Parts: sequence; C-alpha cells; structure tokens
Amino acid sequence: MSLEDAFDRLLPLIESELQEVARVPHHSLGAYYGMLRYHLGWVDEKLQPVQANAGKRLRPVILLLACEAAGGDVEQALPAAASVELVHNFSLVHDDIQDVSHFRRGRRTVWDVWGMAHGINVGDGLFVLSRLALYHLLERGVPADRCQAAMLAVDRACLALCEGQFFDMTFEDMAEVDLEQYLWMIRHKTAALLSTSAQVGALIASEDSVLHECFSEFGENLGMAFQIQDDILGAWGDEAVTGKSAATDIRDKKKTLPVVYALNHGGDRDAAWKLAELYAKDGPLEEQEIASALDILEAVGAHTKAEEMAESYYQRAVQSLARTGLQNRSIANLRELAASLLGRQA
Ligand code: IPE
Ligand code: IPE
Ligand code: MG
Ligand code: MG
Repeated sequence: MSLEDAFDRLLPLIESELQEVARVPHHSLGAYYGMLRYHLGWVDEKLQPVQANAGKRLRPVILLLACEAAGGDVEQALPAAASVELVHNFSLVHDDIQDVSHFRRGRRTVWDVWGMAHGINVGDGLFVLSRLALYHLLERGVPADRCQAAMLAVDRACLALCEGQFFDMTFEDMAEVDLEQYLWMIRHKTAALLSTSAQVGALIASEDSVLHECFSEFGENLGMAFQIQDDILGAWGDEAVTGKSAATDIRDKKKTLPVVYALNHGGDRDAAWKLAELYAKDGPLEEQEIASALDILEAVGAHTKAEEMAESYYQRAVQSLARTGLQNRSIANLRELAASLLGRQA
C-alpha cells in the first residue's frame, strides 16, 4: 500500500476524531468554537462550512503509522493523534501573532480576522483541547501507565516548543547567532513535537523502550530536516504554494539556517559583513533590503547549504527507522513520507 493510500485511509479517521474533540459544546459558544474550527479548516470567516486547506496533518499521520509499525491499533491511538495535531495548531495560532503573519494555509490568520485578543484565546483553547484529547486513550483501552507516559511526552513537547519559540523570537534582535544555537532552537520549536508524535505512536503500541527511542529519534531528525526546509521556503518559497506570505522570515530578521550560515561567513567574509550591516538596522527590513539579503544568501551558497543539511537530517531519520529492526508496510510508508518532505514546496 502506497503512502497516498495510507493518507486516504488515515486522514478521515483523524478528521472525525478532531471534529469530536473540537465540537461546539453549547450553541451559545458557537462563535468561539467557530474561530477554532476556522483555524482547523472546517468553516470560513462567516463560520459557514467550507473545504479549506487544513494543513498536511503530518504529526497525527506519523503517530498512527508509528503505532501500526510497532504492532499497535490505530483506533486506540486516535485520541493521541488528535492531541498532537491540536498542539501543532495551538502553536501556529500563537506563532502567527508572534511573527505578525497575516496568512496561513492560503487564508487570513485567526488574529488577522478577529484580532489579537481572540487569537490568543483561540490558541489557548486549542492547547487545552490537545490535553483533554489524551484522556480518551483510557476509554479506548490503552493501559493507564501508557496513557500517563503519552501525557508526559506531549506536555514536555509543548514546553520544549515554547522554549524554542522564545529563542526564535529572541534571535531576531541578536546580531550573532551560531549554528549550535540555531540547531538547539529548531530542535525545540519544531523537532520536539515531531519526535513526540512518533514516540507516542510507538509507546501506545509496545512496551519496548528501545523501540520508543528509535521512533523518537526518527521524528526528531525528520523534524530538523522539516524545519530547515521550512526555512528555505521562508526565504525562497512561492506564496501561492506555501499559503504563507513570502520572505517574512527575512523581513523579521529571523535567524533561519541560510541566514545563520551566511552571517557566520559561509564562503565569503565580505558578504557576511554586508548581511550583518543590513541586519543591524532597527525594526523590520524593507522590500529593497529583503531583495539585497536574498541576493547575498544565494551568492554565498546558503540556499545549497540548507538543502544539504536538510538532506543529512533526512538520512539520519531513515537510519533511525532502520534501527527499529522492523520491516512492514507502515515502516515503508514512514520512509516514503520522510522522502516526500525533502524538497517539499508547501
Ligand atoms: C508549519 O508546519 C510550522 C513548522 C513547524 C515548520 P506544517 O508545515 O506542518 O504546517 P501545516 O499544518 O501543514 O499547515
Ligand atoms: C514553526 O514556526 C514552529 C512553531 C509554530 C512552533 P515558524 O514561524 O518557523 O513556522 P511558519 O513558517 O510560520 O509556519
Ligand atoms: Mg515563528
Ligand atoms: Mg511563523
């Protein structure tokens, strides 16, 4: 069965679990849950049903494939799949406020439509729903100690994500950020949740802690490759395809991998100095400055360097999968999924 078949099989299950977790509890709360449901891609700004781009639903798919690969039952793991997708979406609603992003998945962001105060409150609601979703694992017959382990892992990933976001924002105003600091930041803001998604899938299925570790490493390495690719798209992506405004990472002086590479000389000290000079100004970069920064990044080979690093983390992810010692359809799907994310355009 191909990866496409796996998505066709798993996405409707994930969607109906999410719909259940994020259902409107009472009609008086329709407007609040409507905002959450807007972000999840189910309704438009007038809260009318719509089929919008809801994102890739990568984290729940990875969790369910890891669970199946380790011999578990997808139906049992669905509450955890919904949980990690809700964590991801809480982080995006808040990230769009933090990054002053007006577009996501080709639509206006929650805060852009309803204002900052509602944006914060929608993110908070999604966060709490992500935690509540996990209690349903017990009803599905997952043993209590495994439920507790899943809760601990998801909570730790949420905290790591916030720690990573702290440095992502702090680095905007720092002139010098080295590769080690950058890697720490993305390991927390992005890789932690992907790692936890794969790990939780395995821990619902099996008591084998070595297996948990292998899946955790797979998700982490994949997450590193994934964020580096996001950085590439943040500089050179086509907004019609990504659904996000182009080059806002450069506008906001985000210390993405291409920028960190160039600032730390790349192959060219002079170019590094010119970029540092552009980045020394207060506030966001203007159109012309963004164009100059992008020229410098290309000229020092930062684009190619980022692609090479994403490839290297992807290779590590594939090695982590191999270390599970498992050979089955879901492992093949995970391998194919990892390959499909390398060089992704959205
Ligand atoms: C975007 O994640 C934010 C990052 C962690 C890089 P995704 O690219 O998985 O977002 P959606 O859910 O598919 O929109
Ligand atoms: C991704 O943030 C990580 C989290 C949301 C925690 P980014 O700011 O790098 O991602 P995009 O490009 O807005 O999706
Ligand atoms: Mg961000
Ligand atoms: Mg952002």
